[in-house]
Amino acid sequence: MLPVEWGAARELLRAVRRRVFVEEQHVPEALEWDGEDATSGHVLAISSEGHPIGTGRLLGDGHIGRMAVLSEWRRHGVGSALMRSLLRLAAENGHKVVRLNAQTHAVGFYRKHGFEVEGGEFMEAGIPHVAMVRDLAADENR
Ligand SMILES: CC(C)(COP(=O)(O)OP(=O)(O)OC[C@H]1O[C@@H](n2cnc3c(N)ncnc32)[C@H](O)[C@@H]1OP(=O)(O)O)[C@@H](O)C(=O)NCCC(=O)NCCS
Repeated sequence: MLPVEWGAARELLRAVRRRVFVEEQHVPEALEWDGEDATSGHVLAISSEGHPIGTGRLLGDGHIGRMAVLSEWRRHGVGSALMRSLLRLAAENGHKVVRLNAQTHAVGFYRKHGFEVEGGEFMEAGIPHVAMVRDLAADENR
């Protein structure tokens, strides 16, 4: 699991997100490439054969997003490893709280990582979402 710079790794990150969000979930390209990537922190998962298989990002305001694992690699712990890296990055960047907008089907995944639902369902890119929040300050006392 690698923290990476957008400038150096953009083609690898884009390849994963194109497969998952644009091709599988039919998110329009104009929404997927939203201009936030250059100023976000990114993590990248690579297979033992050297192929990019998962990614996620941390925005400057402490929002996690664009969590994506290629379909053939899901349920093998790749998403969890990405999430642990992003939470570590958020703590290193001084965030006390992290937030995200979860696709409702993935709420169980985020709950496993300590996130709680905040408020009701809403639509984003034609997909139902809920806002979720996780307190990082509590980790310091564990
Ligand atoms: C959500 C996603 C990133 C999870 O990645 P993953 O590599 O499959 O996750 P993990 O294998 O680390 O899962 C850890 C645990 O979370 C839970 N989990 C994983 N995906 C889940 C899902 N879609 N719904 C509910 N629980 C889920 C499981 O309990 C799993 O534990 P288990 O393997 O013991 O059952 C992946 O399913 C994905 O890329 N989905 C498509 C893109 C997407 O919808 N991204 C989220 C945008 S908000």
